[in-house]
Amino acid sequence: MPQIKEGGKMEQQNVDLVLLQTLYETLRNLLSAIDKASGSEPTAETFDVLQRIEILLQERACFVSSDLFTSVTRNIETVLRAEHLNPLRISNFSSGSVSGALLCTIELDTNSWAIRRAIAKFAPGVGRRERIGSELLKPHLLTPTVFPIVNPDLHIAAFVENAKTLHELIISRAKVWTIAKKVLKRNLKMWCATKALKDSRKFAGYGEKLDDTFNLLQEATIMINAIKMKLGIVLDLPLVLNGLELPSLKEMFEIMKENILSYPWICLQHGDEGAGNFLVTSEQNIYAIDNEKVDYRLLPEGIVKFTNWFPEIMASPTKWDGSFNATIKNGQLIIDFETRFELRDYVKECRKYMLDYLRSNGIAIDHRIISAFSMMFFLRAMQWAHRRRDVSGTDRSSFRPYLLGMALKEASKMVKR
Ligand SMILES: Nc1ncnc2c1ncn2[C@@H]1O[C@H](COP(=O)(O)OP(=O)(O)OP(=O)(O)O)[C@@H](O)[C@H]1O
Ligand SMILES: [Mg+2]
Repeated sequence: MPQIKEGGKMEQQNVDLVLLQTLYETLRNLLSAIDKASGSEPTAETFDVLQRIEILLQERACFVSSDLFTSVTRNIETVLRAEHLNPLRISNFSSGSVSGALLCTIELDTNSWAIRRAIAKFAPGVGRRERIGSELLKPHLLTPTVFPIVNPDLHIAAFVENAKTLHELIISRAKVWTIAKKVLKRNLKMWCATKALKDSRKFAGYGEKLDDTFNLLQEATIMINAIKMKLGIVLDLPLVLNGLELPSLKEMFEIMKENILSYPWICLQHGDEGAGNFLVTSEQNIYAIDNEKVDYRLLPEGIVKFTNWFPEIMASPTKWDGSFNATIKNGQLIIDFETRFELRDYVKECRKYMLDYLRSNGIAIDHRIISAFSMMFFLRAMQWAHRRRDVSGTDRSSFRPYLLGMALKEASKMVKR
């Protein structure tokens, strides 16, 4: 998680431009929401802070001075006071690597609040979504206490002390299988308890998501015959993947779509089942955080989100080990793709554990269905790969061909008879 740091009085600290942009947009949204609610005009200080961030952005300068940092903190304090929270200290600014939300830790006055430390998250609509999500999850999973505030763009929850994310545990090579299984089991239990047939009242469907994924596929670029090309150009060509003759990408997309749309069961899901969104305390209690996407979804979506996320690989591009080569020859798109990754056993075990659990609860899922959802997952992952950066700031666009390769591998399992 990228940290935003305050520079010294004279010296200035390097900060990612993306973070500065986030900070600017978040503050602007937040302050306009507060001004709207209170009916007052923005203060001169608000204008000053926004203007200075804007100048930094225009100049593409990547630092936050001590002075500006103080002003930003003061603005956040104003927001918290409007919610009758009296912060003693605001620290640990960071920015969500995917959501782009601004996070910070606030220490609270224990005379007015039983909770000493809380975490605040700022982004348009995040407060409203997190509150709805946590309410829905509460009967099934442990969630941090949420502060009952009204600001739609602000979420404040009790800080879960002495905890690590499952992601961190996996990376640190701790013995994670027992704990990962516990995380999976909690979610599987929730899915089984809330399982229902697709119903338009609870489930908005996949129409838009599928159209959106198809657009992403058309627009994505890869190197073909050593030239950067849009996939849209090759969608109709029959594919040969590692020597195996397959239908065109467009046809496989249609088959994927049919499989997904015909699946009948929905259930309540966390919706962002990455290992970074489950906190494990030193007593091995598991908290679900980042609950803004909780909703009813098709059941296999949760399985592929848990198992295809490859937390360790996504954490470090250096862990990728593979090759991808695409050429057009005799009217065919020929792709040779190979990947090896260290977490293969973890992923396999997770998938087996989940499918066995569901089968013993009367839900048998055909492998073609899993492959269709996996294909969709990898195609969508191609889009956010370039948005994610690892701790050293490395761009992840280089993952794209591998993600496409994995989508195609899943597609081939889906169409193989
Ligand atoms: N209640 C909490 N207690 C302790 N730590 C927390 C809590 N909520 C969030 N965190 C920490 O902050 C990180 C980011 O929180 P969260 O996942 O809600 O934000 P995000 O914007 O979705 O970030 P990302 O896009 O990186 O997932 C978590 O991975 C965790 O380390
Ligand atoms: Mg998160």
